[in-house]
Amino acid sequence: MKYAERIETLPPYLFASIDESKQALIDKGVDVIDLGVGDPDRPTPKHIVDSMVQAVADPKNHQYPSYTGLLAFREAAAKWCKDTRGLDFDPKTQVLSLIGSKEGVAHVPFAFVNPGDIVLCPNPGYPVYAIGTKFAGGVPYDMPLRAENDFLPDYEAIPKDVLQKTKMMFLNYPNNPTGAVADKKFFEETVEFAKENDILVVHDNAYSEMVYDGYKAPSFLEVDGAIDVGIEMYSMSKTYNMTGWRLAFAVGNKEMIAGFGKVKANIDSGVFDAVQRAGITALTSSQQCVSDMNKVYQERRDVLVKGLASVGLEVKPNKATFYLWCPVPESTNSMDFAKLLLEEAGIVATPGVGFGSAGEGFVRFALTKEVDRINEAVARMDKIRSKI
Ligand SMILES: Cc1ncc(COP(=O)(O)O)c(C=O)c1O
Repeated sequence: MKYAERIETLPPYLFASIDESKQALIDKGVDVIDLGVGDPDRPTPKHIVDSMVQAVADPKNHQYPSYTGLLAFREAAAKWCKDTRGLDFDPKTQVLSLIGSKEGVAHVPFAFVNPGDIVLCPNPGYPVYAIGTKFAGGVPYDMPLRAENDFLPDYEAIPKDVLQKTKMMFLNYPNNPTGAVADKKFFEETVEFAKENDILVVHDNAYSEMVYDGYKAPSFLEVDGAIDVGIEMYSMSKTYNMTGWRLAFAVGNKEMIAGFGKVKANIDSGVFDAVQRAGITALTSSQQCVSDMNKVYQERRDVLVKGLASVGLEVKPNKATFYLWCPVPESTNSMDFAKLLLEEAGIVATPGVGFGSAGEGFVRFALTKEVDRINEAVARMDKIRSKI
């Protein structure tokens, strides 16, 4: 079978190849501790599940959904944006439901990117930014996120001729994989940069609520003028432990939402209404479940940061996301270090290079196991300390 070039030239999806190695160990009977993929381990809160059970039994939710999403869901999303960050959006024209933000990230370039247009993508970054760009015929241009810049891109370093061909950019703070955060000043600089160079901004805010130590992540759209140049995507996946449900939404610039909606209307037929009904429950009920989960992740983070330090791996505690971005020893690289952890300690960590060349020198640990398993992982690392 001869595949289309657009998939022939794709690198293997990172997590798929890690899954293969992990499965091979499990088949051999190894008790693997998976701190690799960013998938919440605790269940979806009961009030959301109960709401889905009711909604799925109701025949009015069984037909094709509307392309842009149930108006009631879009209203709930707009109200949530108002309640959580004081942002005002018109549910009819400035909110679009998505089948998860991965779908949104993959499809948004189709609305704005012509063949040959450049899209700025963070490196390291969520792989779908570059892949979605390529599928639309665009050309991804890496913005390296380096420790010395607090894992923020350096706009000054992007050559003028690149900027002339740039149509769109992706940003993601709180950030996967580095756990870094951006302040309002950075978003202000981004708006200025985007206006100066006529660039559309897509801010992927998938980890907006996963915050610790009293930190609150600002929204890109809080900044004056951001609404003229961008949209933001919020995901229910990590906030409400709903990764399997496939629900997210985009908010922001009217014209961008309209263009994005046109693409989706021609590709998918929207999110199952029952899932959107459960999403309304998640967005409009008490947000206690979110802060409870954050306490759980914060404790896990503290245990892992301390444990890693005890085996000689110094990691700064992250203020947001459930990722620890851990520098690997100088004598090795991210692939070999991840391999060592997997093969000799049965621990899955994601090699930083899988998120782009600038991720070399790091591995990512996801805080997706209970404290006793994290302690067990640290004990196993301690046993192979001489090799770390
Ligand atoms: C930065 C980032 N964006 C988007 C996604 C996709 O999330 P969703 O489950 O909403 O598709 C992920 C998932 O890991 C992510 O890390």
